[in-house]
Amino acid sequence: MSSDRKTVIDAKGIVKKFNIGKENELEILHGIDIKVYEGEFVSIVGTSGSGKSTLMNILGLLDKPTEGEYVLDGTDVSAARDDELSHIRNQKIGFVFQTYNLVARTSALKNVELPMLYAGMSSRARREKAEKLLEIVDMKERKDHTPDELSGGQKQRVAIARSLGNSPSIILADEPTGALDSKTGRIIMDLFHRLNEEQGITIVLITHSNELAEETERVLTLKDGNIIGERKGANYGFGKYKTGAYGACG
Ligand SMILES: Nc1ncnc2c1ncn2[C@@H]1O[C@H](COP(=O)(O)OP(=O)(O)OP(=O)(O)O)[C@@H](O)[C@H]1O
Ligand SMILES: [Mg+2]
Repeated sequence: MSSDRKTVIDAKGIVKKFNIGKENELEILHGIDIKVYEGEFVSIVGTSGSGKSTLMNILGLLDKPTEGEYVLDGTDVSAARDDELSHIRNQKIGFVFQTYNLVARTSALKNVELPMLYAGMSSRARREKAEKLLEIVDMKERKDHTPDELSGGQKQRVAIARSLGNSPSIILADEPTGALDSKTGRIIMDLFHRLNEEQGITIVLITHSNELAEETERVLTLKDGNIIGERKGANYGFGKYKTGAYGACG
């Protein structure tokens, strides 16, 4: 599929074991091959415990595979040192999680600024970019509010703004709508569609919702640590997700 497009994620033979050498050693991923192309919107589905988050943590350089090769955006990261991995991760990848992972007692604006602070951006540049990103996710009016003053959907929009701080080429989202009602989930999904279409950001989405998965370009099914199926999203590109909740993302 899409073989004329640049490959941004190219992982081969990914094996992940936990508790290596111990009595309770577990092999969770059994040799996964996965490619994702530039600008693609791919979803990963599968039952609880099938290894989706384990795989995403490896693709996002949060964890290392036990075996396998991984080329991320042209860089072979299989043998990279930890400091190199965190540098590449900060430059290329934005994460969005089910539980938002915002810093408590810290304003939306400061939350969005944090990754830019770690990347060494000046305070003025950070502030300007964070405000722009909060505007994109329609959260500018709530920029001075702390996470406990925001609804789940609002927190997730702040988390998405934060994920965009270092202008990542890839967003990895692990059940971003899992804790939200379907209407709020719809708004979050629309935002991902817009970031994908208007900014060309490659998105890998883990979801338990078949309905949302069918809207994505390609759906990968994971079962017991293997990819057992790959198909086109049945409703990809039909435009039925366009609720008009967001204007241009640029
Ligand atoms: N650090 C760890 N040590 C031992 N086992 C682990 C570890 N992390 C995950 N596992 C196991 O790996 C398997 C896959 O977990 P994973 O979190 O990847 O599943 P998942 O597909 O994301 O499930 P869910 O849909 O519930 O989020 C599970 O059996 C889990 O218990
Ligand atoms: Mg998971």
